[in-house]
Amino acid sequence: MMAQNDERIPEVESLLEKMTIDEKIGQLNLLTPGGGVATGSVVSKNVEAKIKAGNVGGLFGVASPEKMKMAQDLAVKETRLQIPLLFGSDVIHGYKTTFPIPLGLSSSWDMELIKKTAQIAAKEATADGINWNFSPMVDIARDPRWGRIAEGAGEDPYLGSAVAKAMVTGYQGDDLTDKETMLACVKHLALYGAVEGGRDYNSVDMSKVKMFNQYLPPYKAAVDAGVASAMSSFNDIDGVPATGNKWLLTDLLRERWGFNGFVVSDYTSLNEMIAHGLGDLQAVSALALKAGLDMDMVGEGFLSTLKKSLEEGKVTEEEITNACRNVLIAKHKLGLFDDPYRYIDSSRPKKDILTKENREVARKAAQRSFVLLKNENNVLPLEKTSNIALVGPLADSRNNMLGTWAPTGDLKNGITILEGFKNVAPKATINYAKGSNILNDKTLAKNINVFGPRVEISKESPEELLNEALTIAKKSEVIVAVVGEATEMSGEAASRTEISIPDTQKKLIKELVATGKPVVLVLMSGRPLTIPEEFNLPVSILQVWHPGVEAGNAVADVVFGDYNPSGKLTATWPRSIGQIPIYHSMKITGRPAPASEEFQKFKSNYLDEKNSPLLPFGYGLSYTTFEYSDIKINKETIQQGESVEVSVALKNTGAYDGEEVVQLYLRDVVRSVTPPSRQLKGFKKVFLKKGETKTVTITLSPEDLKFYNSELEFVAEPGKFEVFVGGNSNATLTKSFVLE
Ligand code: NOJ
Repeated sequence: MMAQNDERIPEVESLLEKMTIDEKIGQLNLLTPGGGVATGSVVSKNVEAKIKAGNVGGLFGVASPEKMKMAQDLAVKETRLQIPLLFGSDVIHGYKTTFPIPLGLSSSWDMELIKKTAQIAAKEATADGINWNFSPMVDIARDPRWGRIAEGAGEDPYLGSAVAKAMVTGYQGDDLTDKETMLACVKHLALYGAVEGGRDYNSVDMSKVKMFNQYLPPYKAAVDAGVASAMSSFNDIDGVPATGNKWLLTDLLRERWGFNGFVVSDYTSLNEMIAHGLGDLQAVSALALKAGLDMDMVGEGFLSTLKKSLEEGKVTEEEITNACRNVLIAKHKLGLFDDPYRYIDSSRPKKDILTKENREVARKAAQRSFVLLKNENNVLPLEKTSNIALVGPLADSRNNMLGTWAPTGDLKNGITILEGFKNVAPKATINYAKGSNILNDKTLAKNINVFGPRVEISKESPEELLNEALTIAKKSEVIVAVVGEATEMSGEAASRTEISIPDTQKKLIKELVATGKPVVLVLMSGRPLTIPEEFNLPVSILQVWHPGVEAGNAVADVVFGDYNPSGKLTATWPRSIGQIPIYHSMKITGRPAPASEEFQKFKSNYLDEKNSPLLPFGYGLSYTTFEYSDIKINKETIQQGESVEVSVALKNTGAYDGEEVVQLYLRDVVRSVTPPSRQLKGFKKVFLKKGETKTVTITLSPEDLKFYNSELEFVAEPGKFEVFVGGNSNATLTKSFVLE
């Protein structure tokens, strides 16, 4: 028998006994009635009739709580067994209170804050009837061409695992019957972030050693944190699409990791196995069920073929029952059998959604997600009485504040940068001009604007726009240019082969610099960009991602110094596209390039580019400066199972109070599988008053020394380990110890 959930709940078991095969198959069917954002070419039809017929286990993307109530009425009043529906949604970075995009949130390195954003998202979403969230997205991404890098926590498995845990526990709390919590869904299982060429939905091919060490840890962390559901990804793994991959969904997820929730497909990913070349709908549906898929999103392959497959002996009743049990247990966990309307309470939306307190957390989260990339002549922070030219296509662009995949948020609630400046610095003189379009290419704009206008091409010519900006720039003391990507230039099906700032904005930036006035770039994007040219100009750069509903206020808080930036990059910023994939834990190779980065023949380097990135993982400045010294280690030799404590003295040597993310990297010098050059294995975010010194201690647990060897055993091998501590992944303070 295949490995299955061994959880047995009497109420669920007695229900299963009463169910016909059709009713069981009905529970495996997840539909979307439309009205939300359809992320595939199919939208469900005749949803009401299917609910009444007992052919639906859950719905997602339902437009309102009233509609959810109507649907639940159909399920519990008009079907034979009155089984309530699940209501799912994509609440990716906040519900109505939109937080920064996940890549931005991860840049805060603040797990309590990330958990808090998930708690608020759960409270708001459940107030509107949603009880199942298609988040967290924990796919490791090392290719910034891939638009969905915006939706995850970046390149690193250690940080990614911490974020996965924070989000799952934030959404689910300790008790899923609590009306303010919802089922989380870890996605996209698995390796979706490693699509070839950074092209969405593309194939993935990877060794098991690499996947276990680098890509799988965040999914496992979500399972360890008790995630109630998982979503299979679009891509194939070892040649078998995830949705029909038994090794993935059963051997790994259930048997090895002990997952006891339910697995849902991605949007029509079951049917897409036909295009992948795995057979017709009946064949791929049987394959998916046998692999361990429990619920079919939108495609209705289960609904339309499983009974036939049962009759033909291609699947067993037990397999259908097992999948059905997994779905029913989730409903039981939510308390839906006790009260199907548990999450439908008309008194809640008004008091729980988009409250002042929630917006305050959104503002705080946005401030902490920003990364100061450069502060030329310490121009930042600005005085609140300055005479400022605020320019750029994103300075007053409400449609671009929330970020990609915020379908439950409302664009009109986003505070623009112009509004934020006026709110935070009412005494400043602020002259605004657009300066340029986001880009001028109409075809590209059309591709980006699928969900509505994000790139708006002005009637004025590029020259006119530029001249307006230069005119006000010349009258001002300082120029703040809000530039970068529109929100939908990242996200699903938004891969790019060029990840630089669009040409028309580059021109604007150069012309602004040519005025000789100090220039601050407020850079928005859903991914790392290639900005070597802009970085080398005499400008300051504050990276703000897409900051969410409080965008403008949070940007102003940082620009005017009410908050001292503390974010650090969670994905490496390449110098050029040709360096991709590039990440901090790359292997050393047998022919390492010289430290000087001068080209050498027969070494692992490029003729025309350095190996090092423009900005390393973990990088980010502050208005103050921090000095690291006095690294200590409590043991020089350890035995298996022992921990090691590493401490450093950290001093705030600048003129502002501030926070620093102290990072610990580990290099396993000798082992049976080629090690990464270094890997993040610990971090602490610490606040220091100006002039203050603190000792910061990070403990390396026995687990932190382990890796998956060629047999996929999780082991620590004897030998030397080097530890590096500092403020980014190039940290140089070092000590070593030996595992005996
Ligand atoms: C497709 C996306 O890949 C997934 O992340 C999302 O949850 C589903 N569509 C449902 O909207």
